Amino acid sequence: KENSWLIVAKYWKYFANGLGYTILVTVVSAIFGVVLGILFALLRLVNSKFVNNIVKAIVEFIRGTPLMIQLMFVYFGLSKMLNVDISPLLAGFIAVSINSAAYVSEIIRGGINSVDAGQGEAARSLGLSKKEAMQSIILPQAIKNIWPALGNEFISLIKETSIVSIIGVSDLIFQLRAVQAATYQGIIPIVIAMLIYFIITYGLSKLLNFYERRMNHGNN
Ligand code: ARG
Repeated sequence: KENSWLIVAKYWKYFANGLGYTILVTVVSAIFGVVLGILFALLRLVNSKFVNNIVKAIVEFIRGTPLMIQLMFVYFGLSKMLNVDISPLLAGFIAVSINSAAYVSEIIRGGINSVDAGQGEAARSLGLSKKEAMQSIILPQAIKNIWPALGNEFISLIKETSIVSIIGVSDLIFQLRAVQAATYQGIIPIVIAMLIYFIITYGLSKLLNFYERRMNHGNN
């Protein structure tokens, strides 16, 4: 009788394909998530209580509802409301990007708030404008907290994107189901997909730690 692992291993292309989609959704959403997240964070810094509060409400709403339901809303709801066809992949990009943006904006805000208020006050008392103080005193210090947190967000996204499988994006989770169906092997495909996720997230976190240590070398 042929070894069960070997039977599943014959379907390696399914896993490779799935991993490709997992990475695609992660990378695209991370890029748009950071861009949108910076925009959200900036809008919370502008001099308008009205704008600040609206953006705050949006960010809180996104963080307070499951990514799963946001994905369903974009895929089933938005396409109906706008009367356009949204492919599963596009819906995945949109939902995960917007979800990540909410988290990224909080990472940026937290990074800025973590810089001692005295730093900004000192800069202002030396005659720098608010904008100059932000650009040359506060942000360079904030970035040290922001960068590692953004790395963690990217790693989270690799796992969180698995939800796109429910609307039919053929990511790693979707493909593991296909392999289960094709091989009648219930557990081995799960274990393989699990290991693939782990190798990637663990490898990335080691890599990020390495760069973080290098970046901090010499200061603090
Ligand atoms: N799984 C949780 C949810 O559905 C957390 C999502 C985290 N998202 C992120 N971009 N870090 O809400």
